[in-house]
Amino acid sequence: MTRLCVLHPGAMGSSIAAALGEAGHQVYWLAAGRSDATRRRAARSGALPLANETDLVGFDAVVSVCPPDAALAVADAVIAMGFTGIFVDANAVAPATARAIGDAVASAGCAFIDGGIIGPPAWQPGTTRLYLSGPDADIVAGWFAGSALQARAIGAEVGAASALKMCYAAFTKGSSALLLGVRALAEAEGVQQELLAEWDLSQPGLAARSASTASAVAAKGWRFVGEMREIAATFESRGLPGGFHRAAADLYQRLEEFKDESDADVAAVLRALIRASD
Ligand SMILES: NC(=O)c1ccc[n+]([C@@H]2O[C@H](COP(=O)([O-])OP(=O)(O)OC[C@H]3O[C@@H](n4cnc5c(N)ncnc54)[C@H](OP(=O)(O)O)[C@@H]3O)[C@@H](O)[C@H]2O)c1
Repeated sequence: MTRLCVLHPGAMGSSIAAALGEAGHQVYWLAAGRSDATRRRAARSGALPLANETDLVGFDAVVSVCPPDAALAVADAVIAMGFTGIFVDANAVAPATARAIGDAVASAGCAFIDGGIIGPPAWQPGTTRLYLSGPDADIVAGWFAGSALQARAIGAEVGAASALKMCYAAFTKGSSALLLGVRALAEAEGVQQELLAEWDLSQPGLAARSASTASAVAAKGWRFVGEMREIAATFESRGLPGGFHRAAADLYQRLEEFKDESDADVAAVLRALIRASD
């Protein structure tokens, strides 16, 4: 049995905490500074609250699952708490960001494992993969044996798991942003009905997909901003243009008003995208 702390029990983190508990580990979370929503998700996951940050000293591992643009700050905070165990960063960050986090935690005496999650929160078996890379990634993958989360070690190189996540999300979230941007443009130009009619003729299913994309991403757009910037940086680090995903970040930023709103419809999303450009 391993003693682990998951930072923080968001939509995804709470399912990771539950998976680790299911696999037989002692799982904790840090309540300081977190919202009631996080507290409720933590309770559902079965993770126990850590009363004191200094209690983290002596833990075997920390698993960081937070908004991508907070990943480095979370690692710095963990170091400041005196933690020296295994630090797993499972966030959607560029390989260079993963390596920077790895360097920071290594300088404090921690071992580092890079991670990237693909799929929805892992409440059902077979839906969600956690890719892991770095020395001893297979040991971390083994922590999830028997849980709903499929953990896969993909090699010893820190950055590989993050690179895989960046490539995957570059297409899924990038194409969602493109689809919504196109519909917003058609609406602004007054040709939306004509575009939808043409799609019905030549791109069957695209109109329905754009509507379901709008309601699926609106509440999460605020969190995708940082992820799109990490993807842009990943493209540019390999000499490829990052502009597409910088534009995707700008589009998602325009959806920040829908944070945590579960029933946004396509008309409201298009209005937000267009209004922000006035
Ligand atoms: N959700 C998915 O379907 C999914 C899929 C694949 C990968 N992921 C990855 O999982 C990670 C987290 O996603 P999520 O869906 O769990 O997000 P989420 O539901 O928005 O939860 C984020 C968690 O991080 C905390 N948090 C928010 N701002 C923070 C900050 N500035 N510093 C530290 N902690 C902060 C939140 O706590 P408070 O609200 O209490 O502040 C919350 O507990 C991301 O890297 C994402 O790419 C998610």
